[in-house]
Amino acid sequence: IRKQKIIPVAQYGGRHAVTMLPGGGIGPEVMGYVREIFKYIGAPIDFEVVDIDPTVDNDEDVQYAITTIKRNGVGLKGNIETKSEAAYVTSRNVALRNELDMYAYVLNCKSFPGVPTRHKDIDVVIIRQNTEGEYAMLEHESVYGVIESMKVVTATNSERVCRFAFEFAKRNGRKKVTTVHKANIMKLSDGLFLETSRRLARDEYPEIEHNDMIIDNCCMQLVAKPHQFDVMLMTNLYGSIVSNVVCGLLGGAGLLSGRNYGDHYAVFEPGTRNTGTAIAGKNIANPIAMINASVDMLEHLGHHYHADLIRRAVNKTINVDKIVTPDVGGTASSTEVVNNIMVNIGKMARG
Ligand code: NAI
Repeated sequence: IRKQKIIPVAQYGGRHAVTMLPGGGIGPEVMGYVREIFKYIGAPIDFEVVDIDPTVDNDEDVQYAITTIKRNGVGLKGNIETKSEAAYVTSRNVALRNELDMYAYVLNCKSFPGVPTRHKDIDVVIIRQNTEGEYAMLEHESVYGVIESMKVVTATNSERVCRFAFEFAKRNGRKKVTTVHKANIMKLSDGLFLETSRRLARDEYPEIEHNDMIIDNCCMQLVAKPHQFDVMLMTNLYGSIVSNVVCGLLGGAGLLSGRNYGDHYAVFEPGTRNTGTAIAGKNIANPIAMINASVDMLEHLGHHYHADLIRRAVNKTINVDKIVTPDVGGTASSTEVVNNIMVNIGKMARG
């Protein structure tokens, strides 16, 4: 994926500094695999690791993480847990995206030929508004027993992410953009988002086909006829749900990686953004999603040789060697998958 704008990055002596946020659940172990692979291939990256304590109610750790990403320009992250149930303690993941103004999320969903799935050859890109909508985190109890939750849609952010989607389609040779919405019920909020995408399609991107679909129907169409989709554009919560549906169609939470983009910073992470807490520490977590996120990061920083080497080694491991974890039908442990990737890297690097 081409960078849509030039994002400043920290570079010292040919090496890039990147903030690493391992997060909770399987985050620390899969980050460990990334570090092992980077060390093995000599990737010119220096990680600045920031651990965030999920049990603490203040946001000092998160503010520190944000400061380091502002300094480095780029981050690699797992899911940061928020253990407190107090309403005033908001999601750290959301806070990070909001404070870094990373308004667009991109999930490239391409089938792996070696993973057995109902549908073959899916190739869809989901572009999701990443900072507002249902994630405004503005909830209150207006009178006893009545909770109100605000969904915030702004013209500015709708236009930014819609333009991002059409630009993405144009620059990457994609033919069609589908806006996903519920404007039949949420006529003002989703209506604004839908109208913005229609206006841009009509006035600025006539060469790209544009249609729209109600979220309910979209989920049905995705599981029944996913090949009709090319680029999918939507607000925040629909984006999370649709991302999980498509990850499920392609083999689950352990494969795909997602990218958070703003005008100034970029953060890379596993596509479904979950913690995988139940499988942590058992050597069964699929390491591929985080490794793919690290490859996206290398590409973003222009380290194409290293990115391409890891990507080819990963694809051979999944599609040819079929050394995969149980979540995608295999019997390998996480470390066996990583070792196989490194063996492939060794062979490929030697030509
Ligand atoms: P989860 O972490 O329980 O994962 C869902 C399923 O995918 C589980 O069966 C898990 O074992 C499996 N899985 C996840 N990563 C895997 C991997 N690398 N290899 C193999 N299997 C893997 O998901 P849940 O319950 O949705 O969320 C847990 C936490 O993550 C919650 O705190 C939630 O707030 C957070 N979260 C989840 C998001 C989602 O899209 N599912 C999005 C943002 C946050």
